[in-house]
Amino acid sequence: MEELNEADMLSFSPLMRSFTFNAFMVSGFTPISPGSKLDFFIHRPNGMKGYMMNLTLKGKGIIHHANGEFHCQEDEMLLFPPGVIHHYGRAKESIAWDHLWIYFIPRPYWSDWLRWDHKQGDIGRMRLPDHAHSQQMIQLFKEVISSNAVGASLPEAMAMNALERIILKAFQLQPASNRHNRDPRIQTVCDYIIEHLPEDTRIEELASMTFLSTSRLTHIFRKEMGTTIYGWREQLRVSRACDLLRYTQLNVTQVARAVGYEDPLYFSRVFSQHNQLSPRDYRKKFEQAPLF
Ligand code: FCB
Repeated sequence: MEELNEADMLSFSPLMRSFTFNAFMVSGFTPISPGSKLDFFIHRPNGMKGYMMNLTLKGKGIIHHANGEFHCQEDEMLLFPPGVIHHYGRAKESIAWDHLWIYFIPRPYWSDWLRWDHKQGDIGRMRLPDHAHSQQMIQLFKEVISSNAVGASLPEAMAMNALERIILKAFQLQPASNRHNRDPRIQTVCDYIIEHLPEDTRIEELASMTFLSTSRLTHIFRKEMGTTIYGWREQLRVSRACDLLRYTQLNVTQVARAVGYEDPLYFSRVFSQHNQLSPRDYRKKFEQAPLF
């Protein structure tokens, strides 16, 4: 891909045009210097409808959240999940806060990769470990942003593809998801469950896949993951159901089936235990949330 300079990025940025957040993805570059046009605070008391990823290129930002604040700096990425309150802008003492950002409605199967280990006020934070990783990430953000360019072919598909690579790379850099740290047999089980989430996979099948007895597998799983196999699967099912309720038109019975529950009443009970809201109320809450 051709090198994009800052002026190009700005010209592709929606900040320079009128844009709507009622879209699957909006991305841009926000350069802030003291007193400049973009030097103001963004207040989002209800968060946003979709996710937002943010990468600082220069200077410092200050992020206020529900129970405090923190600074973000060069080579740091942030992940704002839907509905998370935030107010942010250039940190007072900093001569700049230039950042790249992508607002997006995730594809449902991305949700397992949108869990970051380190969070403050529900906002994911991650420092890129070295220059090479930073350059790679910046390049991917630029790919997403430049796919807005007039005349680019397959713009949406290309942008979603680059975004998926950003999400995967960021997830690979999370310490807990780092495959080398996890017992490979447990990793096999987790991967299998993720791939076959709606299926009624029995522990016996998982045990034979990993050449362990069922009791040995349940023991190691609990030790590694801090929960039981079925408990872990339930959390995943509920979290995938949340995405389907938020981002699709499927009705509650269809959502229940899609994540592995034949009985919608049972699904609603499990869902309410996790979210303190019924699936219907959960959907309503997000319908009412402002886009921006
Ligand atoms: C722009 C901000 C950027 C991001 C998008 C959604 O105005 O500069 O940080 O929040 O809105």
